[in-house]
Amino acid sequence: VADDGYRLWLKYDLIKDMPKREAYARSAQFIAVTGTSPMLKSAADELQMGLQGLLGKSVPIIANATSRTGGIVLSVANGPAAGSQILMADGYRLTSRRAGNLTISGKTNAGVLYGVFALLRQVQTGQSIDNLAVTSNPKIQYRLLNHWDNTNGTIERGYAGESLWKWYELPETVDPRYRDYARANASLGINGTVVNNVNASARFLTDEYIQKVAALANVFRAYGIRIYLSVYFPAPKTLGSLTPNGLKTADPLDPAVRKWWAEKTKDIYKAIPDFGGFLVKANSEGEPGPQDYGRTHADGANMLAEALKPYDGIVLWRAFVYKSDPKSDRFKAAYEEFTPLDGTFDKKVIIQVKNGPIDFQPREPYSPLFGNMPKTPLAMEFQITQEYLGFATHWVYEAPLFKECLDTDTHVKDKGTGSTVANVIDGSLHQYAMTAIAGVANTGSDRNWTGNPMAQANWYAYGRLAWDHTLTSEGIAREWVNMTLTSEPKAVKTITDLMLRSRNIYVSYNTPLGLSRPWAGVHFAPEPWQEKSPRPDWTAIYYHRADSIGLGFDRTATGSNALAQYRPEVQKIWQNPDTCPLPYLLWFHHVPWTKKLATGRTLWDELCTHFYTGADSVGWMQQQWAQVKPAIDPQIFADVTGRLATQHNEAIWWRDSWVLYLQTYSKQPIPAPFQKPDRT
Ligand code: GCU
Repeated sequence: VADDGYRLWLKYDLIKDMPKREAYARSAQFIAVTGTSPMLKSAADELQMGLQGLLGKSVPIIANATSRTGGIVLSVANGPAAGSQILMADGYRLTSRRAGNLTISGKTNAGVLYGVFALLRQVQTGQSIDNLAVTSNPKIQYRLLNHWDNTNGTIERGYAGESLWKWYELPETVDPRYRDYARANASLGINGTVVNNVNASARFLTDEYIQKVAALANVFRAYGIRIYLSVYFPAPKTLGSLTPNGLKTADPLDPAVRKWWAEKTKDIYKAIPDFGGFLVKANSEGEPGPQDYGRTHADGANMLAEALKPYDGIVLWRAFVYKSDPKSDRFKAAYEEFTPLDGTFDKKVIIQVKNGPIDFQPREPYSPLFGNMPKTPLAMEFQITQEYLGFATHWVYEAPLFKECLDTDTHVKDKGTGSTVANVIDGSLHQYAMTAIAGVANTGSDRNWTGNPMAQANWYAYGRLAWDHTLTSEGIAREWVNMTLTSEPKAVKTITDLMLRSRNIYVSYNTPLGLSRPWAGVHFAPEPWQEKSPRPDWTAIYYHRADSIGLGFDRTATGSNALAQYRPEVQKIWQNPDTCPLPYLLWFHHVPWTKKLATGRTLWDELCTHFYTGADSVGWMQQQWAQVKPAIDPQIFADVTGRLATQHNEAIWWRDSWVLYLQTYSKQPIPAPFQKPDRT
């Protein structure tokens, strides 16, 4: 049967190596589970299903191991000690000793469920399960997906079909796919999902939609996944206007508005007792918010926190804000608006910050908010869906992008030890009481979930890093390839290597050397010539600043001085155009076309080198992929082969549009090595 990609990394295909399979089977003669909670049932069922597939035999589930050995025991308890590591909520422990049982324990039901998936992963990746002594705790407490899904089934920036949520059929019809979605997330430790777009419709707060959302929550609950809603800030006014005594305002300090939210929240909790909370995009890109009433972000967030006070729910308030002002630097906006509010937010509020200061560009410096709000928990928002990364056509493995941000040192503490962005969001730097991370989902109704089958790896990598940001891009890629595509060692190596290079290749033909946001319209192809837009800060030229002298945005003291938002040690790395690392150069400097760079080439020649070698490298990707054909399912192989061919053509177009446009300013010839016709 051809592989249609539906099963993701949870394929559980029969292990072909007979002795290996038998060795696993000897340790998996039964599954003992005490307790009847839905989550423990999910855990036992998943283990049984996984082992059935991997070992080709049916493993019975029993209530108690009593004196039996050779089985797997699921237990909600601290479990036998493994080293000195303490088990935390959601954490799991796997222990096995020869001639005993293999124990999967967690302090909570969710911990046991995550432990089951960890054990299955161990088997799926061919590792031994004898003498296990593993303790694993998540480094971040709220590990969320954000879906930008609308009531009509469309997805903002979605490239894998329609929304997974069939609003018109819910709550009566519950698609079995919802459960598979929950399984996939639980396998990564994702424990929450925001089901609707941040550009939110007030309809999600109507009784009609609350019932639909509750039906989803009923499925997700057994997998430890809580539902959150994006809210439309003026909802009290919008929905209130439908009632006779409707509200005329959404002012967060108005008692009637506060009462409206308190009552609405109560209704939600009645339908969804484990509701997670609210995500808010306010006073951003035309969305209304508290500033419309002369109030602050804190006033708005704290009002919602007050409504959530009786419940175990939180407010995720987004920091994605900027004004339509051609003279200001959008880069600086979030820091300017939010840092003065540090310490004024309710303790139920987390500020959700995009990884970079602009908007999910192929490469951005980290947002200067990280490290600069010590009294307010900051959450990381990554974008998994490839809005600026070639949609579902271009193959870009995102773990290196996530890691580059997480591992960057903010130098907030002396000598820069333990001050990485990851240390900010995992709470260790400022001792945050709550920690969170969000990924804007790349899933949709396509049978294979993500359009491009290779983009499944980005969902996977996000989830794995949300649990443990110290994992490596390479390790995660290898794991994913083994579980999803092939375990043939040479093919695993070839594909892993390809994945690890894919992001830099994309950046080279798309936005090299720190170029950003050359987009118009749908954000697919660079259109650097776009000089007109209803908003001056939505033109391409606002960002790249090409002129007869050079290229790039001066963010040093002679320009917008956005660099001043970073610590001096960080400024030092970026502020000198002679020493600024090339990947960030044009983020911070307006560089003359003829300036010699560290590579010995002029800016113009360096740009051309990136554009041309980047586009050429897609040809290399095609060659590498062709080599793994014997190891890959034919349907997936053909699908990816086709997408790579498109990617190659588009990389050439994109390169040419940049080079020819920039040449009108640089007036320089294309360097000789690149003056040759393309092989396509
Ligand atoms: C980007 C994206 C929008 C989205 C916005 C956001 O600008 O293009 O579609 O709404 O980010 O994150 O709020």
